[in-house]
This record gives sequence, structure tokens and C-alpha cells, in this order.
Amino acid sequence: MEKAQLLYEGKAKRLYKTDEQGILWVEYKDSATAFNGEKKEEISGKGRLNNQITTLLFEKLKEAGIASHFVKQLSESEQLVREVSIVPIEVVVRNIVAGSMAKRLGIEEGNAIEKPVVEFYLKDDELGDPLITDDHVAMLELATEQEVAVLKDKARKINDVLIGFFQDIGVDLVDFKIEFGRDENGEILLADEISPDTCRLWDKETKQKLDKDVFRRNLGNLTDAYELILSRLGGQN
Ligand code: C5P
Repeated sequence: MEKAQLLYEGKAKRLYKTDEQGILWVEYKDSATAFNGEKKEEISGKGRLNNQITTLLFEKLKEAGIASHFVKQLSESEQLVREVSIVPIEVVVRNIVAGSMAKRLGIEEGNAIEKPVVEFYLKDDELGDPLITDDHVAMLELATEQEVAVLKDKARKINDVLIGFFQDIGVDLVDFKIEFGRDENGEILLADEISPDTCRLWDKETKQKLDKDVFRRNLGNLTDAYELILSRLGGQN
């Protein structure tokens, strides 16, 4: 497999075409960004950790019957994925109040949520990814009504499975963001990444934050936190 031209460079990853139709080459970068790119830093090792953690989680999800775009890990910081057309919606699932929900609703961080909340955000950096409703999704023609139902159903299933994985390693899955794509047949497939960059992960005992909030809130060493997640998930550092 050969890496071909650069297709897209985002804040955390580079996507390349390959010599195989429908397969993309992903390179995880060492850059950390927060607050829609306002806070930025190079953190050596972050790309490697997110690539390995995403690989482990996508493999575990596959075993649990949840398909994703993931094909295989290539190196510490690279993986192959199926090419999909990304649905421009960031799907967030919340089990414990934190972050923007705490601010928006005036609820203290750490309160448990009885029925997990699924939220949609418009994937648009210029607008700062605003929260949107199903009616906005229809109005902006981001997805069909049927696809919205699929997105919500898949998000809840992924949440159930991920809660279990993290429970087993003594970590609370507070919330996370996922993205989906349409494959060549129009099927909705889990895509992008699932890593401490896109999840809030709190140690069950100590409540220590083991995710990107360490960077956002200057709470210490980011790679130490990510290494801990990787090693508890059974990965090699
Ligand atoms: O900031 P907020 O509380 O809405 O974030 C909810 C979850 O979604 C967090 O786990 C955060 O890391 C993730 N997220 C993300 N990318 C964004 C916005 C949020 O991964 N653009």
C-alpha cells in the first residue's frame, strides 16, 4: 500500500489518498488545540497515543458488533481507514454533566445523568460548532429523518459498549464526541476517532481527569494521562 496525495489536513490528523481505491491513510499529529483552535501546542507523543487508543477502541467496538471505517493500524501514529463521506454533524453523548452542558444549563460538573443525552452540533469551525436540533438538521439538509434516527441509535449503542470498556479499567466515561460517514452504499458508518481528545474520562476512584481537559484547563501532563488510558486498555506504550 502506497501513500498518495494529501486529501485534507485537520487540527489533529492528516488524511492521504492511497493507491487503493476507497482506502485512506491517516496520520495522527502531535498538535493539541482547544477552544476552536485558540489554544494551540505541539505535544510530542500525542499523535501516537491517540492513534493507538483509537485503534484499540475501534477493534473492541468491532468485536461488539459496531462497524467503523477503521481498517488497520500501520504504525504507531498511522492507520488505514475506509473512505466515507463525513456527515457534517458532531454527535455528543453525555453520561455525566461537564463542559459546555454544565455552562449552558447551569448545572454543576459531575452530576450523573439518568438517561444519556445525545446532542448534535453543526461541524463548522467558523461558526464554532453550534448546538443544533433535529429540525435544523432537516432544514440544512445535513441528514434525512431516517439517518437521524440511525445516528442516535448508533450513538446510544456505542455509548453502552464504551461505558463497559471504561468501567473495566476503572474509568468513568463522562461524555464523548463521535462522527459518522456514509459509505459507497449510503450506509452510516462510525468514523473519525475515539480517543482522550474526543472523550471525557475520569478515574472512578480519584476523579482525576485523563483526557484533553488536562490541556484545556492546564491540569498537568497530557501524555501521562493518555499513556495511563492506553496502558489500562491493554495497549503498549
Ligand atoms: O465541550 P463539550 O462539553 O460540548 O464537549 C463534549 C464532549 O465532546 C467532550 O468529550 C469533548 O472532548 C468532545 N468534543 C470534541 N470535539 C469538539 C467538541 C467537543 O471531541 N469539537
